Parts: sequence; C-alpha cells; structure tokens
Amino acid sequence: MTMDAIRQRFLMCRPTYFAVDYAINPWMDPTAPVDADLAIRQWEQLRRTYLDLGHEVDLIEPVAGLPDMVFAANGGTVIDGRAMAVQFRDPQRADEAPAYRAWFEGAGFEMYDPKHVNEGEGDVLLAGDHLLAGTGFRTAHASHAQLQEIFGYPVITMQLVDPRFYHLDTALTVLDERTVAYLPEAFSPGSRAVLRRLFPDAIHATMADAEVLGLNAVSDGRHVVLPAQATDLAAKLRDRGYETIGIDLSELRKAGGGPKCCTLRLRQGKASK
Ligand code: ARG
Repeated sequence: MTMDAIRQRFLMCRPTYFAVDYAINPWMDPTAPVDADLAIRQWEQLRRTYLDLGHEVDLIEPVAGLPDMVFAANGGTVIDGRAMAVQFRDPQRADEAPAYRAWFEGAGFEMYDPKHVNEGEGDVLLAGDHLLAGTGFRTAHASHAQLQEIFGYPVITMQLVDPRFYHLDTALTVLDERTVAYLPEAFSPGSRAVLRRLFPDAIHATMADAEVLGLNAVSDGRHVVLPAQATDLAAKLRDRGYETIGIDLSELRKAGGGPKCCTLRLRQGKASK
C-alpha cells in the first residue's frame, strides 16, 4: 500500500500571551511554573515541521489576555469552504470566538454561527465520510445536529468519559480516510462499540501514550506529527507504515494541549477535503 501525503492548509496562533492562569481542565495548575519563552520555541518547531513537510500555515494574530488562543483547533470547524464558528463552555475563552470568526470571514469562508456550546475541531473530526463529534465535557450534544445540517456529513456522537481527555482530539486521532487511533477507555461502552464497527482496523493507544497527549496528533496521510513522549504509539504507527515526527510541547501540555490543539485544518473545498 502506498501512503500519499496530502498537502494541508493549517491555521495556527503564536503563543505570545500563553500562560496557565486559570484551570478549566485537569492538566491546568495555575500554581505550577510555565516557561513562556520555551513554549514559543516549541510552537515554532511545530510550525517549522509543517512547513518542512510542504504544508501551508496561516497565522492569526494572538490577542493579549487570551492565553489559550494558541489552541487554534478550538477556533472553528472548517470543511468544504464552510466555517462554523465556536461557542466556548468557559467564559475565560469566550473572546477567542469572535477573533477566530473574524479571521475566517476575512479569509473568505462561508460563515455559520453555533447555537450551542461547540469547541470546533477540538471535538469535531472528519474521518473519511463521517464527522466524529465529541460530547460529555465541552461541545454540547445539541450542536451535533447543527454540524450535520451545516456540513452534510453523517455525524457520529462520541461520548467522552474521562475528564483528562475532555476534547475528542485528546482521545482520538484521524490518520487517513480509513484509519484512526484512539484510547478505548476514554469512551463510553456504546461509543467504543461504534468505533469498533466503523474502524475495525483502528490502532488502540495505551493509557501511557494518552497521558502524554500522544493522541493529539496531526496526520497528512503519511507523516504523523505527535508528542515526542508518545513512544509506543509512534512505534505502532511506524508498523503501519506511517512516518512519525515527535515534537516536544511540554509547556503547552501544562494547559492540556498538544500538536493537534495548536493546529486547525482549513479545508478549502471538496477537492482538498
Ligand atoms: N486549556 C485549553 C482548554 O482547556 C486547552 C485546549 C486544548 N485544545 C484541544 N483542541 N484539545 O480549553
């Protein structure tokens, strides 16, 4: 089987104002030290990796006072030239939503506004012809129906059950049109059964991999960029023929984020789906 890399267009946000000064997930400890300069260098390394792989990276201007804005995956869901804006659960992140919305509008995407809490690609992952949509901690179940109406892909609800894996993209990663990797324990029994049915060949990650946010990975169909500490997962991916690239995002992990959280996929139109 030949594995073709698909050239991607990503949106990222430099962690200029990154900090951990509130706690909205179990990873965040506002009393623990964060090296802000190191966070920027690690993020630069991620951006450089994408550019070296031939991907396109657009940048949104960071806003002072929004320390989590670096997590661009939460800025929206963008598929086939349509962008659905977000509505955050927590007031600390609320002002990120209009900033991202304005960027999408300026970039020429067709805009849709959320009617319920929806944290974008953090909880909404396109896997082949299905939209996998997480709920349980952040994105409201009610928003799944709206996702289906806007994008016209069948939406599959994924019930998340472990607060450490509060966004779908911390528990599952899409590797290509047919393959995903996930942590079974992060999902309800029913959701696990659905995952087995849809993806019988899926890679099962270990808790050790998930605990370093190893599933917060970005794949172009051939290369998988993932946290350097997720060594077992990387080995399993290589066994399946993927090329793995480990990135150390230790500082951003203190906010509960990894490579995927920092990366929003911009899908122009059907051809570049
Ligand atoms: N501190 C951020 C939050 O809790 C981290 C977001 C991580 N983003 C993601 N796509 N999982 O909202």
